[in-house]
Amino acid sequence: MAVREVLKMGDPRLLEPARPVADFASAELALLITDMHDTMRALNGAGLAAPQIGAGLQVVIFGIDANPRYPDAEAVPFTVLVNPVLTPLSDALEEAWEGCLSVPGMRGVVPRHVALRYQGFDAAGQPIDRSVGGFHARVVQHEVDHLHGILYPMRIRDLRHFGFTDTLFPGQALQDD
Ligand code: NI
Repeated sequence: MAVREVLKMGDPRLLEPARPVADFASAELALLITDMHDTMRALNGAGLAAPQIGAGLQVVIFGIDANPRYPDAEAVPFTVLVNPVLTPLSDALEEAWEGCLSVPGMRGVVPRHVALRYQGFDAAGQPIDRSVGGFHARVVQHEVDHLHGILYPMRIRDLRHFGFTDTLFPGQALQDD
């Protein structure tokens, strides 16, 4: 168990596509997921993708209960998602603020599909197949983007809606993502 360093935007490892997990029984996978969990919890994050701690595998974790950084967000069940495949359920997009542990201290407005189906596997290799919307769908899209080397600032349509959290939202005790 360990809290790992989170790579920051500018590190070329964040731009590389991640490889699918082939062996669900490996000790390396179990250790990776434990470290991701420890790291996300230590930083009070809503999600984390393996490339953010330097592991080029298709593993993301996410989950929110009552998070002071997302006061309007509905809870999202804690999920380990391996080898994910996303299928939008409509063409509808909506824009909302996002942050990222790899882009600390900043927020930007990012368009995401309103509803999508995600499929993949849990840590034990059991299938996951969910159709979700809203914040749950947004978090999944953000995390899975990391597996394709995409950071949220690359998706911002209007860079006037990108800036430092403490300037955008003064007086709100929003922490780094
Ligand atoms: Ni992120």
